[in-house]
Amino acid sequence: MKIINARLRHRSELFTLSINQGVWSHIEQQSSYIHDASATVDAQGKLLSLPFVEPHIHLDAALTAGEPNWNMSGTLFEGIQRWSERKPMLSAEDIRQRALKTLDLLVENGIQFVRTHADVSDPSLVGLKTLCDIRDEVKGKITLQVVAFPQEGLLSFPNGVALMEEALEYGADVVGGIPHFEFTRELGEQSMKLVIELAQKYNRLVDVHCDETDDPNSRFLEVLAYEALNSGLGSRVTASHTTAMGSYDNAYCSRLFKLLKKSEINFISCPTESIHLQGRFDSYPKRRGLTRVKELNEAGMNVCFGQDSINDPWYSLGNGKLLRTLDFGLHICHMMGRNDFDTALDLITRNSAKTMNLRDDYAIEVGKPAHFILLDGEDDYTVLRNQSDVLMSVHQGNVLMKKKAVEITEKHFLV
Ligand code: FE2
Repeated sequence: MKIINARLRHRSELFTLSINQGVWSHIEQQSSYIHDASATVDAQGKLLSLPFVEPHIHLDAALTAGEPNWNMSGTLFEGIQRWSERKPMLSAEDIRQRALKTLDLLVENGIQFVRTHADVSDPSLVGLKTLCDIRDEVKGKITLQVVAFPQEGLLSFPNGVALMEEALEYGADVVGGIPHFEFTRELGEQSMKLVIELAQKYNRLVDVHCDETDDPNSRFLEVLAYEALNSGLGSRVTASHTTAMGSYDNAYCSRLFKLLKKSEINFISCPTESIHLQGRFDSYPKRRGLTRVKELNEAGMNVCFGQDSINDPWYSLGNGKLLRTLDFGLHICHMMGRNDFDTALDLITRNSAKTMNLRDDYAIEVGKPAHFILLDGEDDYTVLRNQSDVLMSVHQGNVLMKKKAVEITEKHFLV
């Protein structure tokens, strides 16, 4: 496959890029716009970017809003109630159909790397097993990581630890946790130590739903960061949500940030979900309910954005478009300075890839696997402002999706 007249991020020149057997084989700067009948794709000056990465979604719950009843108040607590009504209807086939449909939606919007949580507060582990099976089936098209997520607590749910170990033995990629949901602070702290021990025992990554509350006294993040530092797992550990940090006072945060930086852990914020679910106990002024994305970013820590939900009991909207999530995040977090726009796309690309520990699998460099998307805009700013369509998505040289606007020589689809 040969792509001509493409722009790369932060470069004004045009480029020709070639793919051979799924790998970038040639990348060359052009001196001017060219016509080349042998080219597979004429990018027409549009932006060729690394694919979007979805680091936090719940595929086992996706597309269940309104089944059997809608969340009328929109609160987290009614969401839990509605999910408990939907849970008895779960089956492998039900989860499979909805997860595949959601993955299609993600692919359609330029996402090729996905980290999904799977609820393991379930003696049958049906969600976890189904999503692990799908992960193996879609390999080569989408990279899927499955988090064993103890929705109702690791230590507060009957046999929670045994279920987690069973999930890891079945093949879950990531150990999850939910310390602020455990019955007591002590159990929450213990659960963080346990999560790290299990990650070491099974050689897995860690991604914890951590302090997803407005409660400024929910301080499990410091325990997770310390355990990550002490164990040496560091950047293999991720703290999702950490919305309580939006309510921490500055004096505590100034101490906390030193530990966070040293620990090298990653952060995932889900702006649409958090602005919707947090701040529900406030009248006015009403908190935004997001973690300190801007400050973490400015302090040189790795932060990224995820969607969390698509059309489920907690969040009825959502459409697979990460540019929408990014747009919300930039507004809510006051990241609207001109310089912020130069790095904004990193929040749904490079930073998320680092969180998922993708390493060499994610780079537009000769010799690396050829993954890219083509966006309907010539630079980062235009793409952000217009929330541009993804025109084409290619994973390891295979065309996953293309819009009609892209001229492409069909015979070159399979490289
Ligand atoms: Fe989540």
